[in-house]
Amino acid sequence: MARLEETLHGRRHDPTGGERLAGDRRVPGTGENRVSTPTRNDSVCPQPRGAAEIEHPEGRTHPLSSRPFEIMAPETTPRRRPDPSTGGGQAPGRVVEAFRERTGRLPDGVWSAPGRVNLIGEHTDYNGGCVLPFAAPARTYVGAGLGKEETITLHSVQFPAEDVVASLEGLLAASGPGGQAVRGWAAYPLGTLWALLRDGATCPGLDLVVDSDLPAGSGLSSSAALECATGLAARDLCRFDATPRRLAELAQKGENEYVGVPCGPMDQMAAMACTEGHALLFDTRDGTLVQEPLEPASHGLEVLVIDTRVRRALRDGGYVERRRSCEEAARRLGVPTLREVSGAGLGKALGGLGDPVLERRVRHVVTENERVLAVAGLLRRGQVDGVGPLLTASHRSLRDDFEVSCPELDLAVTSAVHAGALGARLTGAGFGGNALALVPVALERAVRAAVEDAFDRAGFARPVLRLVEPSAGARRDSAAATLGG
Ligand code: GLA
Repeated sequence: MARLEETLHGRRHDPTGGERLAGDRRVPGTGENRVSTPTRNDSVCPQPRGAAEIEHPEGRTHPLSSRPFEIMAPETTPRRRPDPSTGGGQAPGRVVEAFRERTGRLPDGVWSAPGRVNLIGEHTDYNGGCVLPFAAPARTYVGAGLGKEETITLHSVQFPAEDVVASLEGLLAASGPGGQAVRGWAAYPLGTLWALLRDGATCPGLDLVVDSDLPAGSGLSSSAALECATGLAARDLCRFDATPRRLAELAQKGENEYVGVPCGPMDQMAAMACTEGHALLFDTRDGTLVQEPLEPASHGLEVLVIDTRVRRALRDGGYVERRRSCEEAARRLGVPTLREVSGAGLGKALGGLGDPVLERRVRHVVTENERVLAVAGLLRRGQVDGVGPLLTASHRSLRDDFEVSCPELDLAVTSAVHAGALGARLTGAGFGGNALALVPVALERAVRAAVEDAFDRAGFARPVLRLVEPSAGARRDSAAATLGG
């Protein structure tokens, strides 16, 4: 317990658990699919203190390495251990069958997009900051075919009683959050189509059938997966010219403006642009994307996602209130976003806020940006095991300064770390949902047992634990010609 207390309660205002941070490497924004090479003086999420090196927790110093980056990484073949709790991967076949049952014909293709797990970088994406998500193995599949009569039909294997038929004209005319007639799951794909149509896509009509391995409402951003699979399908079938980056932006726009959920840009970009065996360093200020290697298995490690089964929606007050606080703090500091506040300038900024709550919010955002960069630097050097303390420091900051944790998330983190996880934190918006833990393979069973036991003893509902490996982003899974029969 001593180690746990130190990790969770010690060094409260040190963003990195005592580490110096990497920085001083600026990578210019890139065009889609363009491969650029960072130069010595370039920086992604520039580290405000300007240090050009990162110090390992053990005290060793490592020079920054430069590596090319791209939106689609080269093929990698990490060792895979499919997680049975993600549904067994039956969805691609099921969606074809469901489409045939609904329409009497085969779909023109099947497209899919993954859920996301955010390794670190929480509540930074709407502050112009950096995030480091990876794609979950579980995916949402969309079987799609061109339809007729300017009509969109939507059917979900998971919600068979909630079919929707919408006219393209009516969809295009919908405006503003709440202006749409459709609620529930179908609002998300319709929001993406709404944004595509408004951006110039033309389409005779579409039939869409959805199936998913992603546990609904589990905090792995099943909504972004659904939006991105739909966006890709519509782009290909309607011959709409949009890059994956643009599709991610349109999917977010649909969720913000059509569905009325005020999410930031992280989830859609993760679903579109993550690649197998990598976490995606996404600088939301300039849009830079860098694929950072993340193959825990080759380091004897695993990422365990702990679903507390406590559910909160982004529409609920907490998320919106945090966004407003950050905007208010930026306004008081005279900066466009909190990203402009550096670690070095944090003390002065805190002094100018005149509000203890805003001070805590700002401290979280600024220190979290530093932790993201530190973790990215460690991944780049293959030092995955050095990431643990930064994860736990992130949780502490989210719990104490941003105040978005809850007893179940705190217990998931403390019990996992106590049982030997190298680090753990809540992942996603917080207020419930998931925690993640970085666990040595040899301790996985002990950590699982400790977390379940702690939940039992606290009288909480049994958590659901899943192993996740960084997986592929959105893609077309099959064309009509390969669908068979
Ligand atoms: C949700 C939102 C994201 C991001 C996270 C918090 O997942 O959809 O945009 O703000 O919360 O990091």
